[in-house]
Amino acid sequence: MIVQRFDHEDALAAALASRLVDAIVRNPRLVLGLPTGRTPLPLYRALRALTARALVDWSGVRTFNLDEFAGLGGDDPGSYRAFMQDALFDHIPLDPANIEMLDGRAPDLAAECLRYEAAIAAAGGIDIQILGIGANGHIGFNEPAGELHAHTHVATLQRATLEANAMLFGGDPDRVPKCAMSMGMGTILSARQIVMIALGEEKSDCVAGMVNDLISTRLPASFLQVHPHATVMLDHAAASKLI
Ligand code: PGA
Repeated sequence: MIVQRFDHEDALAAALASRLVDAIVRNPRLVLGLPTGRTPLPLYRALRALTARALVDWSGVRTFNLDEFAGLGGDDPGSYRAFMQDALFDHIPLDPANIEMLDGRAPDLAAECLRYEAAIAAAGGIDIQILGIGANGHIGFNEPAGELHAHTHVATLQRATLEANAMLFGGDPDRVPKCAMSMGMGTILSARQIVMIALGEEKSDCVAGMVNDLISTRLPASFLQVHPHATVMLDHAAASKLI
């Protein structure tokens, strides 16, 4: 794992946005894996700014989001689809046909998970997967547990995760859907490159565990240790407990 530290989240976001735009220049048909949450917001702002300033050809780029709440359609303001439209998709010239997200309203969630895995495979796999990390060490909705899922699956969210997502539901963790669909650990680790972003003191313990401790299903992010091309981008607070 390559660990990079930045003085400020905007410097981190600018560096990652440039890396992604360079990757698009080299491969106009880049397949990107994208996260939601507070952490990627500076990145999405930086990508919007770079797109407004420079000629970024998004026309061939495909995106796959990590996860979506079960039961919510893309028109629900709490859905990750709505979050992505607002944070990024409405502001850059991505072809809507190239945006893939799990459909929380699909009648058969298990079938929807299989469809998603097949769509990722049909796109040739994910070139660069961007990740955040939960304060409990989750990636996507792969929550700490005795066993982890390899493929896209229906996940039950832990209390800490409901609380972390309450901002999308008027601040009320009890309104956050209890289930979601998420790429699995194998789906994520199959990406050719992984870039994790972590910001703030509340992530410092799980970041230290991810980098310095043994791999454990109790800290799903620790599996990034075995990925051949993983970068962890941190602000000083998130890096503060690294050995
Ligand atoms: P956050 O969530 O960016 O809102 O902290 C990250 C995550 O849960 O993966």
